[in-house]
Amino acid sequence: MKIVSTIEEVRAQVKEWRKEGLTVGFVPTMGYLHEGHASLIDAAGENDKVVVSIFVNPMQFGPNEDLDSYPRDLEHDAKICREHGADLIFHPTPQEMYGESFYSYVDMNVLTEELCGLSRPIHFRGVCTVVAKLFNIVTPDKAYFGQKDAQQLAVIKRMVKDLNMPLAIVGCPIVREEDGLAKSSRNTYLSAEERKAALVLSRAVFLGKKMAGEGERDAEKILAAMREEIEKEPLAKIDYVKMVDLETMQQVKVIEEGILTAIAVYIGKTRLIDNFMIEK
Ligand code: PAF
Repeated sequence: MKIVSTIEEVRAQVKEWRKEGLTVGFVPTMGYLHEGHASLIDAAGENDKVVVSIFVNPMQFGPNEDLDSYPRDLEHDAKICREHGADLIFHPTPQEMYGESFYSYVDMNVLTEELCGLSRPIHFRGVCTVVAKLFNIVTPDKAYFGQKDAQQLAVIKRMVKDLNMPLAIVGCPIVREEDGLAKSSRNTYLSAEERKAALVLSRAVFLGKKMAGEGERDAEKILAAMREEIEKEPLAKIDYVKMVDLETMQQVKVIEEGILTAIAVYIGKTRLIDNFMIEK
């Protein structure tokens, strides 16, 4: 497995693979990899070659967010990538990605105006811009994203469709700790007490899923039960608990197939997300 930091090196490597007629799978990440990322690298193994990018993208962090404290550990990440059969890590600097000046953005409305887009107004512009750049650099056949960031996955799928980007987007299931907490690099911010409190997210998600599975169709009844569950935890502060149509991100009153139930909750200062889908 190679680790490179320049766009030129990635392009040269992919060009060689293309000459041999090989397919390329791509897993974009911000590093500090865990089993969730590992599952994406495993899924990308359906291609002949797998590229993983590790780049903490400054453009998707708001002014008061955790850009500086976001955890980084390239050695640990390289070990996980190697163990899961990745062929190339692209680990650029912000300078390599954005140069001295940068004027072009990929932005989206509608899908970014609800859920995380409300509390993180510039986030999805940063995500779309960096992911579009990474797709142009790596030129993969398929790219892999986790369902935990369900809104991000919907936004990327829409960007690829709207802008006719020539690749397929593959969504992969949420990976959880044994006790239910969805894996996230941000879980490392939690103190022991907060880590216990954070279980309220998966408890609320499992409760909502159970109610929907048992036939409850009134969105507000399910959301109220989920909110009540979260509010029992003194360290938790709700950002949102919502049900939306995944195609439009508009809130729904009645549950049907293709509905996303998504939550964002602060545990102390750490903002965590979780969700479940009513499958089509
Ligand atoms: O999900 C992430 O880790 C990031 O948003 C992504 C897709 C790598 C873009 O920086």
